[in-house]
Amino acid sequence: MLILGIETSCDETAAAVVAEGQVIRSNVVASQIDVHRAFGGVVPELASRQHIEALAPVIAQALVEAQVTFTDLDGIAVTYGPGLVGSLLVGVCTAKALAWARGLPLIGVNHLEGHLYSNFLTPPAPPFPFVCLIASGGHTDLVLVRDHGVYDLLGRTRDDAAGEAFDKVGRVLGLPYPGGPAIDRAAQTGEATAFNFPRAWLEGSWEFSFSGLKTAVARLVETLSPAEREARRADLAASFQQAVVEVLVEKTVGAAQEMGVKHLAICGGVAGNSLLRSQLQARAAELGLRVSQPPLSLCTDNAAMIASAGYFHLQRGRVSDWDLEAVATLELAAEGIHSGP
Ligand code: KG4
Ligand code: ZN
Repeated sequence: MLILGIETSCDETAAAVVAEGQVIRSNVVASQIDVHRAFGGVVPELASRQHIEALAPVIAQALVEAQVTFTDLDGIAVTYGPGLVGSLLVGVCTAKALAWARGLPLIGVNHLEGHLYSNFLTPPAPPFPFVCLIASGGHTDLVLVRDHGVYDLLGRTRDDAAGEAFDKVGRVLGLPYPGGPAIDRAAQTGEATAFNFPRAWLEGSWEFSFSGLKTAVARLVETLSPAEREARRADLAASFQQAVVEVLVEKTVGAAQEMGVKHLAICGGVAGNSLLRSQLQARAAELGLRVSQPPLSLCTDNAAMIASAGYFHLQRGRVSDWDLEAVATLELAAEGIHSGP
């Protein structure tokens, strides 16, 4: 079964063709980062315009690379939330028009669920149940995945998402947008113990908080001269990254242990962080836990993960109506999921 996935929730225009929910036939991503970099972050109006221009050629390329035509497809999956509403609308309207014209099922996919399915695109897929950390620019959710479509939300961030903290601290450190990959690179030559930034453990809960850490870095940077900022940039980046990663790793392995689960997974842009990947592997190995980590290209936004999630929806007979709308603030819990441990 072949699914065309479409993703336009933020600043990547993406289309992909995936077979049986697990085999990537094509995965095309047109990044808008260069357009937004001059503004230090995503400009929603510009993002929507870029999606309108890029989406049709990106879909055409995905079909060509997969060596298929619309008649070979079994469904069209599209991100309908959460994200920038103008950007989401471009994908949703395009997917609806194509599905209607070609007589194909339309499958609306939650972007966060899409990230989760990036773990199903590089075999072996994690066995159920597993604990998954979804860490992106807008979300930091710890989820117990019991089965396809059956999730318990264990905890999420109370304030900034992990990726948001990386992006804001990147700006404070004078690094280019997006801050995550720039901090990851800068930290390679820095000393992670140079500054002792606060970790919000929020004992007794699976929730996160990164805004205090972000403010602590900003306050410290304010006390430094321009020359000191330059000289200590790598140390600041490494110390900040260490503080974020320590909390993400300990909460994720802690949740798996408390849930009695042997398998962990991570996904979302922050899952591409080199320190998070190595420290999670190391901690999990110590505790006898297995970890799934999607390759870097599948951690950041892409449409293969949307096609995969769409396939498993279709398998369960879950298709969308023609009145599917873009929902900016959609939560993972909207899929009929229970909250709390
Ligand atoms: O999942 P994603 O591509 O888009 C959203 O759904 O938000 O995540 C983007 C976020 C940005 O905040 C970016 O700075 C962060 O992921 N990110 C990273 C790394 N690569 C991307 N954060 C830390 N380390 C990285 N290597
Ligand atoms: Zn994302």
